[in-house]
Amino acid sequence: MERKGFFITFEGGEGCGKSTQISLLESALKSAGEEVLVLREPGGTCVGEAIRHLLKSPEEGSSLVPEAELLLFAASRAQLVREKIRPALARGQWVLCDRFLDSTTVYQGVARCLDSSQVSLINRFAVGDTLPDRTFFLDLPWGEARLRVGKRNGAPDRFDSENDLFHNAVREGFLRLAEREPERVATLDASASQQSLATVIQKNISSFCHVLFS
Ligand SMILES: Nc1ncnc2c1ncn2[C@@H]1O[C@H](COP(=O)(O)OP(=O)(O)O)[C@@H](O)[C@H]1O
Ligand SMILES: [Mg+2]
Repeated sequence: MERKGFFITFEGGEGCGKSTQISLLESALKSAGEEVLVLREPGGTCVGEAIRHLLKSPEEGSSLVPEAELLLFAASRAQLVREKIRPALARGQWVLCDRFLDSTTVYQGVARCLDSSQVSLINRFAVGDTLPDRTFFLDLPWGEARLRVGKRNGAPDRFDSENDLFHNAVREGFLRLAEREPERVATLDASASQQSLATVIQKNISSFCHVLFS
């Protein structure tokens, strides 16, 4: 299957602004005449949304062991890649995904302390050769992010409710991952304004493809 669309992922801790930037980029791309599919992880498919509920719900997910958590994320991702991402890319659409395999590398492989080589094997098995063309890591100290999470609608999920140590480990994990893969992963200072971040993201995208953002 010839691949034509671009696959962009957004990563970072809770409350760093992923959903906000995805929505701004979606609008900007659509205004430029592009076709865009926005997806979220875990979820994005019927099976994936059921898995999302298990993973996010503080009640139902309370007894999940880290190994089961890892496999549930991988199952949701495997389904999303084959059911949604590959077909959209083949149609030439942009795929914007709220979290992808880097979240597993960091959350399960670093913050949950699972063996990182096993995590990367499972990641690889789940996605095959479907990897993001560009990943935007929105970097924000947990102290600031926590204030934003507090303002967000809805009750805190299993991950929001983790302790400060966990959230700091997530941030460190993303910083190290971004250092390892500087060509794919762009690290952005997420304390900047929503609009200035959106402009940086559009400029970055314009550097590898022709889109006429207004
Ligand atoms: N650059 C920003 N500066 C200040 N607040 C922001 C910024 N980006 C997002 N927010 C606010 O922070 C909260 C979390 O943003 P959100 O996009 O939901 O984060 P995420 O999807 O990463 O959890 C929301 O209330 C949002 O309006
Ligand atoms: Mg979000």
